Amino acid sequence: MSSRRDFLRNLSVGFMAARLASPLLGWAADPTSQAVPGKEGMLLRSFRFLDLEAPPEFLSSWITPVSHFFVRNHMSEPTSLDAAEWRLSIGGEVEKPLTLSLADLGKLESHSVINTLECAGNGRALHNPRVPGIQWEKGAVGNARFAGPRLRDLLQRAGVKPTGKHVMFRGLDEVPGKVPPFIRSIPIEKAMDSDTLVALEMNGLPLNKHHGFPARALVPGWIGAASCKWLTEIKMLDREFDGNFMKPGYRFPNQPVAPGGSVNPDDTHPVTGLNVKSIITAPSDGATVRPKALQIRGMAWAGEANIAKIDISLDSGATWLPAQLDEKQSRYAWRAWSLLWRNPKAGQYTIMSRATDSQGRVQPETAVWNPSGYLYNAIDRVKIHVQA
Ligand code: MTE
Repeated sequence: MSSRRDFLRNLSVGFMAARLASPLLGWAADPTSQAVPGKEGMLLRSFRFLDLEAPPEFLSSWITPVSHFFVRNHMSEPTSLDAAEWRLSIGGEVEKPLTLSLADLGKLESHSVINTLECAGNGRALHNPRVPGIQWEKGAVGNARFAGPRLRDLLQRAGVKPTGKHVMFRGLDEVPGKVPPFIRSIPIEKAMDSDTLVALEMNGLPLNKHHGFPARALVPGWIGAASCKWLTEIKMLDREFDGNFMKPGYRFPNQPVAPGGSVNPDDTHPVTGLNVKSIITAPSDGATVRPKALQIRGMAWAGEANIAKIDISLDSGATWLPAQLDEKQSRYAWRAWSLLWRNPKAGQYTIMSRATDSQGRVQPETAVWNPSGYLYNAIDRVKIHVQA
């Protein structure tokens, strides 16, 4: 794929230009990804393996355009992937192993799911004390319409044996050196859910190369890591897969941990569903605004639960007002919300947003600290200055 070579060349030329212009810019400090075609304005969080975050103002529409959708790669994207040659195998604890082409998948009934995909590490940079890993702030999240055959239709064709309890996904990432491949599994119950897909499309178009072309798992309401990109193998296992990205990766302590403390990996469980969370997308943090009516807007999501209400504080948490929830809603999709501040007076303000979901979970004042910085969901805040 020469486009891939061009892409890499452009990326490195752009990156070198940025470094030359500002030789003191650190890796994580390199601010934008102007050089990634189709992803202009996204924040570059890692260059070695492409990781792109959306600035909050890119997350203002219910459906996130692909150009504004975050990218999280643990390793290199496949260099060449020929759709005609690509195959998906289904094996392991099944009666009838299958190998399917893209054309075969295209003949199956397609189902679409609007899903808010969030990286388990979104917000890691906001944990205190700091935890190692990609320093995501607020934008490793997006909401898109995914479509493709249901995973359960494929598994039913292959005939899952009674011993098949977990579904393993393998992607076609290019694994550098000794890094373990990106392989994870989900339990059969979630795999058989009518909304769990082998997605071929995102927002009505074939998946693009950053988001898993030609096929990815889509495990709605769960952390992004469950939704394996560049899917090439599905395997039924009699137990949970135990590779690096299941253990020690993507696990949460069973017991509370003192901030900065360590955890025994045997006293942890896999991270699955997303937390209740809201973010403020307007005004921007640090904005200076005129003393006239101001729309405060944002998004809220809760994984497999629904958003019940959003409360907004204009006075650093002293008092709270209910925000209006937008009418657009779909199971697993975030909910847009807004509040009109009619007459802001001159001064400095901290605006806060707090979501509550249908399970009674409430966004906390402080997120639960854990050594990997997963599932950050503290009440969101932006500071603004209202001019005199
Ligand atoms: N699938 C493969 N094959 N390789 C990966 O590195 N990253 C996972 C998941 N699927 C990953 C993957 C993680 S951690 C996340 S958050 C989502 O993909 C991100 O999906 P996106 O890049 O389409 O936004």
